[in-house]
Amino acid sequence: MKKDTNLPECERCLNRREIRVTRADNRMMPCPKCQEPQYRDACRAVLRKKLKTTAGKLADYKWGDLDISEGLRARILDWMLDEPDGTGLTLIGEVGRGKSTIALTSALEYCVRHDIYDVLYVFVPKLLRQLRGTWDKNPDLDTEVNMIKRLEDCDLLILDNIVAGKEYAAGVLLEILDGRLLHRRTTIATSKHGMPELVGLLAEHGEDIVSRLVTMNGKAIRLEGKNRHIEGLE
Ligand SMILES: Nc1ncnc2c1ncn2[C@@H]1O[C@H](COP(=O)(O)OP(=O)(O)OP(=O)(O)O)[C@@H](O)[C@H]1O
Ligand SMILES: [Mg+2]
Ligand SMILES: [Zn+2]
Repeated sequence: MKKDTNLPECERCLNRREIRVTRADNRMMPCPKCQEPQYRDACRAVLRKKLKTTAGKLADYKWGDLDISEGLRARILDWMLDEPDGTGLTLIGEVGRGKSTIALTSALEYCVRHDIYDVLYVFVPKLLRQLRGTWDKNPDLDTEVNMIKRLEDCDLLILDNIVAGKEYAAGVLLEILDGRLLHRRTTIATSKHGMPELVGLLAEHGEDIVSRLVTMNGKAIRLEGKNRHIEGLE
């Protein structure tokens, strides 16, 4: 995992996260200072700041404040406490059910627990527009390739709002997911469409994309309830 220079420095282990038990043997144990809540809070702040650049206020929500059912909390905690092995989450649900909020909040907590700092959030429809923008300005393919590579390589990626896409969009999505699956990198995906429905919405790549998502994350989690965007306005 890549080191982040913005992280608060732990002077006990120099951000190695482990210390030797005694000088004589080679046994290592987790660094007690890095486990302290104050240190974790400082790490959370670094991650929040990083995610805020693309996720805005979605990055402000706290895991402990989420209003979710016990079942859902347990399901996400199950994932969160496992060692990272490339398994992520797929969240589906209609507009305003909390997909983006839960995706961001769970991702941030997962990253703190597993010491992951190379994390990116992208709103998929915007990403595709930006990729096409790099093409218009600079048709030498370089920027497009670099953008896709960053998304393929980061330790944790949040792909928010996978929607219907034509040939180009679906091709990009497939390339990203394929690279991530191959290298077992964690991906959190959200969509208003269920998996079978998505197959038909992503040009000729639908089946490939959905198969990869299912291989990585297993069954999608469906978020129920009301549209929280308009709750309280009625
Ligand atoms: N579990 C939750 N606890 C408390 N507030 C929540 C929760 N989930 C969502 N909200 C609030 O509800 C609103 C809508 O949530 P969010 O944007 O995450 O939904 P969404 O499913 O991503 O919607 P969209 O389909 O428009 O992308 C936000 O203002 C958010 O802060
Ligand atoms: Mg959303
Ligand atoms: Zn330490």
